[in-house]
Amino acid sequence: MPFSDYFKAIHTEVDATLDRLIPGDETYPPSIHQSMRYSLFAGGKRLRPMLAVAASDAVGGSRTPVLCFAAALEMIHTYTLIHDDLPALDDDDIRRGQMTNHMKFGESTAILAGDGLLTMAFEILTDTAFFPGVAVTTILAVANETASAIGSLGTIGGQVVDIEYESAVADLAVLEYIHTHKTGKLITASVRGGAILGDADDDQVSALTVYGKHVGLAFQIIDDILDIEGDWRKLGKTPGSDIKKEKMTYPSVVGMEAARKRATELTDSALEALEMFDDEADHLRDLAKYIAARTF
Ligand code: IPE
Ligand code: IPE
Ligand code: MG
Ligand code: MG
Ligand code: MG
Repeated sequence: MPFSDYFKAIHTEVDATLDRLIPGDETYPPSIHQSMRYSLFAGGKRLRPMLAVAASDAVGGSRTPVLCFAAALEMIHTYTLIHDDLPALDDDDIRRGQMTNHMKFGESTAILAGDGLLTMAFEILTDTAFFPGVAVTTILAVANETASAIGSLGTIGGQVVDIEYESAVADLAVLEYIHTHKTGKLITASVRGGAILGDADDDQVSALTVYGKHVGLAFQIIDDILDIEGDWRKLGKTPGSDIKKEKMTYPSVVGMEAARKRATELTDSALEALEMFDDEADHLRDLAKYIAARTF
């Protein structure tokens, strides 16, 4: 990733946190822990953790609870990927440059590994309420926020409509619902959660929410574009998956040029939302620009 030492350090710290908190490969029953670890450590950009930590840093938060939140976000995200790849959903064989979880461990273990990651994410997040100096109500707010972002009114809702509208007639309103929910909600919760953990005031949380919504939608538009134009060696997944499944995507509904334009506009709006911040939000600015320009 074309990233500074700042982001490399977050990546390293989040991976170390995950490694410390997830039961080892040999822990009984070993198959589930091997499967959970396999997908978590297969690679991955750690974008949601980076957004959470950068949002917390932008408002002057301390690192310990936000790193656990960041680890929890990556576990939740990885669970959504494992389930997204299942034969009943997108039926993909490659993820993060390796065989998808169900190809490697079988469908039953893959389903359960997703369930295990999702559940443990909330165990890890709520455990931070017992840390010295951490307000229980803050953790409760972040846990509540995260849960509502990924349920049937969030990620799951988006995934349901994504599946139900395969092969359907193009509809921009439906597409916008899919993208803002299947991907946007967790990205927005990452930014908001980081800000709340950093004790942001209401104006800061509002500005960061606008930022999160814009980068969240831009992120999924670029994901759609890369499914057409990306190189699998960089992407770590097989391009063409959307066309094969006749998914509703930005390029399929509005065309490639308009999709690219929309992503640029969203990035500009995300940057505008940060206007009240000084250089303490530069890492968030870098992330927005990276999301728009990424090739994997
Ligand atoms: C892929 O997410 C799934 C979407 C929500 C589009 P990422 O592109 O963040 O995947 P990793 O974590 O880097 O593998
Ligand atoms: C996945 O969207 C969104 C979630 C996993 C919630 P996609 O199906 O477009 O993600 P990829 O392209 O398989 O990574
Ligand atoms: Mg999908
Ligand atoms: Mg998919
Ligand atoms: Mg995709």
